[in-house]
Amino acid sequence: MADNWTPDSWKQDRFTAKHLPKYEDADALAEAVGTLAGFPPLVFAGEARNLKADLAQVAAGEAFLVQGGDCAESFAEFTPNNIRDTFRVILQMAAVLTFASKMPVVKVGRMAGQFAKPRSSDYETQGDITLPSYFGDNVNGIDFSPESRRNDPQRMVRAYSQAAATLNLLRAFAGGGYANLREVHRWTLDFMDRSPWAGQFKQIADRIGEALDFIEACGIDIEEQQSLKTATFYTSHEALLLPYEQAMTRQDSLTGDWYDTSAHMLWIGDRTRFMDSAHVEFLRGVNNPIGVKCGPSLEPDALLQMLNVLNPAREPGRITLISRFGAGKVEDGLPPLVRAIQREGHPVVWSCDPMHGNVVKSESGFKTRPFDRILSEVRGFFAVHRAEGTHAGGIHVEMTGQDVTECTGGAVAITDAGLADRYHTHCDPRLNAAQALELSFMLAEMINLELGEAREAAE
Ligand code: PEP
Ligand code: CO
Repeated sequence: MADNWTPDSWKQDRFTAKHLPKYEDADALAEAVGTLAGFPPLVFAGEARNLKADLAQVAAGEAFLVQGGDCAESFAEFTPNNIRDTFRVILQMAAVLTFASKMPVVKVGRMAGQFAKPRSSDYETQGDITLPSYFGDNVNGIDFSPESRRNDPQRMVRAYSQAAATLNLLRAFAGGGYANLREVHRWTLDFMDRSPWAGQFKQIADRIGEALDFIEACGIDIEEQQSLKTATFYTSHEALLLPYEQAMTRQDSLTGDWYDTSAHMLWIGDRTRFMDSAHVEFLRGVNNPIGVKCGPSLEPDALLQMLNVLNPAREPGRITLISRFGAGKVEDGLPPLVRAIQREGHPVVWSCDPMHGNVVKSESGFKTRPFDRILSEVRGFFAVHRAEGTHAGGIHVEMTGQDVTECTGGAVAITDAGLADRYHTHCDPRLNAAQALELSFMLAEMINLELGEAREAAE
C-alpha cells in the first residue's frame, strides 16, 4: 500500500489542485460526497486487476489497446442508442485490428464517467456577458446562463446514476450476445455504407464468418466458447473531479488495497500531470491501471519522477503513457520520452492520442480536427516506435458511433462548410463512426509494418 496515503491526502496544502471547481455551499458538497460514498461501487477491484493484466500484455508487445468515446459525456446525449453505437464501433475497430494483427485487442471506453473537463479559461464571455466556463455536466451546465453555469454538487450524484446505467447496458451488450462474433456483420451502422471502408469491413466480417464455420465444422461448438461469444469491455475517464473520485474509492475486501471504483482505468490529464499535483497524489494510492497524458511540455526527467511516484514497484500494466503531441511534433517530441523510459526500464503501454494536439479553428468558426492531421500524428507515433524498437501499443480517440460532422476530412469527406450540419459535441470534436473505422484500417496497416519488421529482425 502507498505510504502516507489516504483517499483525501490530495487535499493537503503541499499539493496543488488545478482545474477543480469551487462550490459555494460546503454543506451541499459534503452531502453529495456522503451520498456517493454510500452508493455501491461501479466496478469491482478484480476487474481492474484483470485490465491491468491485459495491459501488461500490451506493454510486453503482445496485444493492442483501443480506448475511445466522447470527449465529454452529457446528460442530454444519454440514450441507449448512443451507448450501443459507440460500443459497436469500438468492437468494429477491435475486429479490424485483431484480424489484421492476430493479436488480442484490449477494449476500453471513454464512457460511463467521462464528464469533467479542464478548461483553458475559468470564464467565458459572450457579447458583454462573462460567466464561469462550462466544466462538464457533473459540475455545471453548458447553457450560457448564470443559473446553468453555477457549480452544483448534486450533479455528481446524477453523473453517478448515468454512469451506472451506462455501465449496466455495456455489460449487457458485452455479455448478452450482442458482441458475439457471429454478429460481426451487424455491427456496421447503415449510414456507414457511404464509406468505402464499410465494404472493406464487410470483407473482414465474411472471412471471420468463414473461419467460424470452419471451426464449427471441426466439431467445436462456438456457443460454448466464451471468448467468441462475449467481449471484455472496460471503462475509463479522466480522474479530474477529485471529490467524486475520492467518494468512489474503496478498500478491496479481498486484498485490502484501495481502488477507485468509478471506472476500471483512470487517467491524469495533460494539465494536471505535474509533480506535487493533487491529481498525481490521489492516483498514486489507488491500484487501478493509470493513464498519463504526455504533451509537448513534458520533460523526460519530470516523467520519470512522476512514474517513480505512480509506479514505484514498476508493475507492468499499471501505467499507460498517452502521447498527444500534434501532427508534425510527435517525431521530435516523443523519442526523448521513449528513450528515458527504456533507459529506466519502466514497463509502460505506449498509446497515441491523435486528437488533443490537433485542434484547429475552421473558417466557419467551429473547433475541428482535420482527419489528415490525426492520421499524420498516428503515422508519426508508429514511426517513432519502429525507430526506437518499442511497441506502439494503443490508440486513444474521441469518437462516437453517431453520424456527426465535427472533424473535417475522411473518405466521406466532411467539409468546413459541412461542419454545421451535425455538430453535437459538448466539448471537443469527435471522429464519427465512419472516420473511426477508417482510422482502424490505417492502424492495422501500421501494426503489420511493426510486426513485419520484428519478424524480419528475428529471422
Ligand atoms: C481529454 O482527453 O479530454 C483531454 C482534456 O486531454 P488532454 O489532457 O490530453 O489535453
Ligand atoms: Co477532449
